[in-house]
Amino acid sequence: SAIGRLIVISNRVAVPQARGAAGAQGGLAGALNSALSDQGGIWFGWSGQESEEASGTINLQRSDGVTTATIDLSSRDVDEYYNGYANSTLWPLFHYRLDLTRYERETGKGYERVNEMFAESVSPLIEPDDLVWVHDYHLLPLGERLRARGMTNRIGFFLHIPWPPTRLFVSLPYHERLVAAMMQYDLIGFQTDEWRDSFLQYCRKEMGAEVNEVTGEITLDGRTVTARTYPIGIDWDTFQAEGRTEEAHRAEQRLVSSTRHRVAMIGVDRLDYSKGLPERLDGISRFLEQNPERVRDFVFIQIAPPSREDVQSYQDIRHTLEQKTGQLNGAYSEVDLLPIRYVNRGYSHAELFGFFRACKIGLVTPLRDGMNLVAKEYVAAQDPEDPGVLILSRFAGAAEQLGKDDKGAVLVNPYSPDDLSHAIRLALDMPLEERKARYQAMIGTIREDNIQWWTEAFRRDLAGHGGDQGSNQ
Ligand code: G6P
Repeated sequence: SAIGRLIVISNRVAVPQARGAAGAQGGLAGALNSALSDQGGIWFGWSGQESEEASGTINLQRSDGVTTATIDLSSRDVDEYYNGYANSTLWPLFHYRLDLTRYERETGKGYERVNEMFAESVSPLIEPDDLVWVHDYHLLPLGERLRARGMTNRIGFFLHIPWPPTRLFVSLPYHERLVAAMMQYDLIGFQTDEWRDSFLQYCRKEMGAEVNEVTGEITLDGRTVTARTYPIGIDWDTFQAEGRTEEAHRAEQRLVSSTRHRVAMIGVDRLDYSKGLPERLDGISRFLEQNPERVRDFVFIQIAPPSREDVQSYQDIRHTLEQKTGQLNGAYSEVDLLPIRYVNRGYSHAELFGFFRACKIGLVTPLRDGMNLVAKEYVAAQDPEDPGVLILSRFAGAAEQLGKDDKGAVLVNPYSPDDLSHAIRLALDMPLEERKARYQAMIGTIREDNIQWWTEAFRRDLAGHGGDQGSNQ
C-alpha cells in the first residue's frame, strides 16, 4: 500500500507481560503501545535481558495487534551503552546536570557499537514503503547507521527528553559528530518549542547550517531535515476506561479510607534525580516549619519505583531520599500520624487513576523534564465537579501547555522551598470555583492533544514531507 507500515525503534520495548506497571515504565513505552496497536507495524528494541552469547538474534512476539521484535544485549553492551553513555552521559547532560555527567571514550564507543548492532538487526525487517520512527537519546545516531546500509525510507526521530542549551551541549566530546549523524533523519520531533529552539540554535551556531526558524528546516551540505514540536499526550480514552474499573474504584477507596479527614497530596515519579524529589521534600518541610498548626491537615504520598539501579547517581539519589523521608517523618510524626508515605514500587494505570482522584493535590516538580505525563494523567483523573490542584514545575515540558497565563496549573520553581511551601498553602486553601476554572483551563489540551493526535501528527509529517533524498546513498 502507499501508506507503509510503521516501524518503531526504541531502546525499551514494553513486552506484553510487563505492561501494567505504569509508574515504572516511563512515558514512552505506554505511548507507543497504543500507537502501534492502532496502526499495525513492528516495535523493535532491547529485550531488557542480558545474555553473553547475545548475537543480535531477534525474538518476535505478537500480542494485542502489536508485533514486537527484541534482541538481548551482552552485559558489556548494557554497561557501556545503557548504563554508560545513555544514562551516565546523555541523560544527565540533557537534563542540565553537568555535575553528574561522565565523559568516557569507552562508553562512547559502546554506544556507537550498539547503535550499529540495532541497525544491522532491524534492517531485514524493514520494507521499502515502511515509515521508520526512532525514539529517544539512546539511539541518536541510528538514522545514520541505517542510511549507511543504503536505506532510503523516510526516517523520523523523536526526542522524549530536553535538548540542552548550546553552552552545555558543547561540553560533550564529539558533539558535532552526534548532530551530524542526526542530519540523516527526515524529521526530528521535540516535546517543546524551548528544546527545538535550542537544537536549531546549535545547528546554526556550531554547525553553520542554514536554519529557517519558522518552518524548522535545517539545511546542511545539501540535505534538509525539519525540526518540529510535538508535545506528547496521554492515552485519554484508555485511561478513562481504566478509571471506570473496579480496580480503580478500590484503589481510590483504599486511599480515601486510609487518609480520613486529611487532604492527600501525591507524587508519582521514577526514582530519578531529574524529578526534584529531595527538593519537593524540602518544600514540604518548609511548609511544616511555616505552618506547624497544619501538620494534621495533610498526608503526602510519594510513589517512586526505583530506576537504573546500576548507575551510581541513582543509588545516591535513593539514599538521599531515604534519609530525607526518615528525617521528616521522625520530626513530624505522632503515634497516630505519618505525614510522608514513601513507596518504592509501581502501580497499574487503573490504580494510579484511583489514587490521583483521591488526592486533592498533585505535585509534579521536576528540576528538568522533557514533558511529564504524570502531570496530564493527574488532571485527567480528576472529578470535574470537585477537581484537585496540580502543582507543576516551570521546568517541566508540560508547563508550556498547562501553565499558560497562570490559569491552569500552579507553577513553581522547584529549587525554591519557599515557593513550594507557598504553592502547597495556596492549593490547600483554594476555593472550589478557582479549582474548577484551573481544571477547565487544562483539560481541553489534555483530552484533545492526546497520544493518538501526537502519533498521527508525527506520522503525517514524516510521510508527507517532500522527499529530497538524493544525497543519502
Ligand atoms: C524516560 C525516557 C525513556 C525511558 C524511560 C524509563 O521516560 O525518556 O526513554 O524508557 O525514562 O527509563 P528506562 O531506563 O527504565 O528505560
